[in-house]
Amino acid sequence: MSEATQTATAGTVADDARHDNPMWSSRLAFILAASGSAVGLGNIWKFPYITGENGGGAFVLVYLLCIAVVGIPIMIAEVMIGRRGGRSPINTLRIIADRDKLNPRWKLLGWMGIAASFLILSFYSVIGGWAINYVGHAASGAFAGASSDAIGSMFGGLLGDASSLLMWHTLFMVAVMMIVVRGLKSGMERAINILMPALFLLLLVLVGYAASTDEFSKGLNFLFAADFSKLTTEGVLSALGHAFFTLSLGMGVMLAYGSYLPKRVSIVKTAVTVSVVDTVVALLAGLAIFPLVFANGLEPGAGPGLIFQTLPLAFGKMAGGSFFGTLFFALLVIAALTSAISLLEPVVEWLEEQKGISRLTGTLIGGVSIWLLGIATVLSFNEWAEFHPLAFLPVFEGKTVFDILDYVTANLIMPLGGLLIAILAGWFMNKQAVENELDMGNGIGFKSFMFVLRFLAPAAVAVVFIYNLL
Ligand code: PFF
Repeated sequence: MSEATQTATAGTVADDARHDNPMWSSRLAFILAASGSAVGLGNIWKFPYITGENGGGAFVLVYLLCIAVVGIPIMIAEVMIGRRGGRSPINTLRIIADRDKLNPRWKLLGWMGIAASFLILSFYSVIGGWAINYVGHAASGAFAGASSDAIGSMFGGLLGDASSLLMWHTLFMVAVMMIVVRGLKSGMERAINILMPALFLLLLVLVGYAASTDEFSKGLNFLFAADFSKLTTEGVLSALGHAFFTLSLGMGVMLAYGSYLPKRVSIVKTAVTVSVVDTVVALLAGLAIFPLVFANGLEPGAGPGLIFQTLPLAFGKMAGGSFFGTLFFALLVIAALTSAISLLEPVVEWLEEQKGISRLTGTLIGGVSIWLLGIATVLSFNEWAEFHPLAFLPVFEGKTVFDILDYVTANLIMPLGGLLIAILAGWFMNKQAVENELDMGNGIGFKSFMFVLRFLAPAAVAVVFIYNLL
């Protein structure tokens, strides 16, 4: 939107908060940024390890189904709400509630998203810091020929050393702030334009390497041959929950990005593209990881330590392992960074919209407070490892501050946010406006989309949400 249009439309309460740098330069730029948010630790660290824990193929199939049936419709809804409002999540929701004569409390959904971004980034940054640390380990050749005990104590040593964790966390946060402070076009777009294709390329190189091992077909089988006897109810629910996490849904992130999307761009096509990119990256990560796991006689169900404790063993044994190890962890840092940018952006965008707060000040206030909260996660792995602040509530028994942050955001806030987004778009928003935004006509496509949004997606999410609460 031009300066002239901005001035011309200014005047209402909300209109004083126009984006000063309003639109993505192209549909591709939006796709890069949104996939930058979606593709992260969730794809490369979490997807392989939960797939490993849940026995492979059948879990992957259910996960793909969840992406298609719940994830994509909710992403479409979230981007659509964002574009219709055209502001940061809270203001967008206020405007839509205003326009469609809805309860003004819908803006609480925006607050919830800001709070979740804030909480997630505080620990995401610490894990991003581990990845930076492992780039160094790999590059220095520390994995070469190392025993599993040595690899284990390398990881244990990092977690036990609060000051070192703090340093890596700080480094990660500074990098995120430096990108976000430069604003949408000059900072985020340019950074993501380079980072995303680099990520894809690096993954392809790693899959290429995996394909050269003897166990590639075993890895392929593990990922794609569905053995339903290995699938548990819990696995189904965790597949659905992960669909939210991996697509960055229910938090206002896609809502904020949607507010920058030009009107002429198709939301449906764009959301489908982003979801496909995200899924392909996760599957590529699986393809790169599992053949290595099998080729080295390692355990696919090793849990969250899979990449940090298990892969270095594989890298230690393979020819050129230092090189591929460095590449792999660099890739993880890149993926984590682009997701982290999307977590800080809504916080800053919102601060910026408040009178008198510049982008620099907003980034500093937001970034430093998140960094401060991150110290609690840093300490959760050492000094506070036995500190269980909410142990008086049964759900939080035995949980450290980090565990609580992870649980509250991924298991409670994100599903609730997704559920509310589906309900807002499906039941409350002006139907004509939804139709106009989606530009699909009023045929079978639109009708089935509305059906999924009104019934299927909320029901599925409600199940996960209630399950997690119980
Ligand atoms: N989607 C990111 C990942 O898979 O790592 C994590 C994430 C980013 C979740 C942004 C939520 C969010 F708002």
